[in-house]
Amino acid sequence: MTELTLSAVTKAYGRKSVLAGVDATFPAGLTLLVGPSGAGKSTLLRIIATAEKPQSGTICWNGAPMPGARQTLRQVLGYAPQAVELPEELTAREFALHIAALKGLDTAEADLQFGAITAAIGLHDDINRRIAGYSGGMRRRLIFAQALLGDPQLIALDEPTAELDHESAAAVSALLLERARRAVVVMTTHLADQLAPQAVQVLRIADGKTSKA
Ligand SMILES: Nc1ncnc2c1ncn2[C@@H]1O[C@H](COP(=O)(O)OP(=O)(O)OP(=O)(O)O)[C@@H](O)[C@H]1O
Ligand SMILES: [Mg+2]
Repeated sequence: MTELTLSAVTKAYGRKSVLAGVDATFPAGLTLLVGPSGAGKSTLLRIIATAEKPQSGTICWNGAPMPGARQTLRQVLGYAPQAVELPEELTAREFALHIAALKGLDTAEADLQFGAITAAIGLHDDINRRIAGYSGGMRRRLIFAQALLGDPQLIALDEPTAELDHESAAAVSALLLERARRAVVVMTTHLADQLAPQAVQVLRIADGKTSKA
């Protein structure tokens, strides 16, 4: 069983309730998380990625509840946030190997993986360039690529295809679908239509709750 379960998860910022009791199960395969801007998609993804704690509720990974599961979850997790500051002075490859070190991965193996991932998404020719010279679309693909290092069992992607041209978006989608055959993949997107047929579920978030679309 590879499965992430959220029960009665709540989150508020000050007085503003964003998640008002989310009950959702994320099985192996691709889950699309959709909803209008400000609905709480990124908030939910940050909670799944343990980058933020919920106010209340439980999160279970393969049946084991957090916080006990928190450490386990981090070991199996790949996360691509919606917006992140990248180290401009590093090359993409140096950045990826830094992430790999933080994840405790073998450097040579991670280097091979990064090469293969970037080759699949049209970024390989630029991996030895400094990130400072990267375009928006290249940055987005780099954030996506680092999330796949170490073959994580849980992959959380916040709008991985935003800002990408059609060809790059298709390459990213193909790779995440391939990973979804052996991992729990959760992604937010404003363009769910193309991927919905290949998803195990589409969850819509509205009024702080999720429901199957
Ligand atoms: N750190 C924060 N502090 C205060 N409010 C926040 C914070 N993060 C998010 N919010 C608020 O929580 C709500 C949900 O934001 P979130 O970013 O999760 O939405 P989203 O569905 O990802 O939107 P988008 O489609 O624009 O990315 C918004 O009203 C936002 O202003
Ligand atoms: Mg968002």
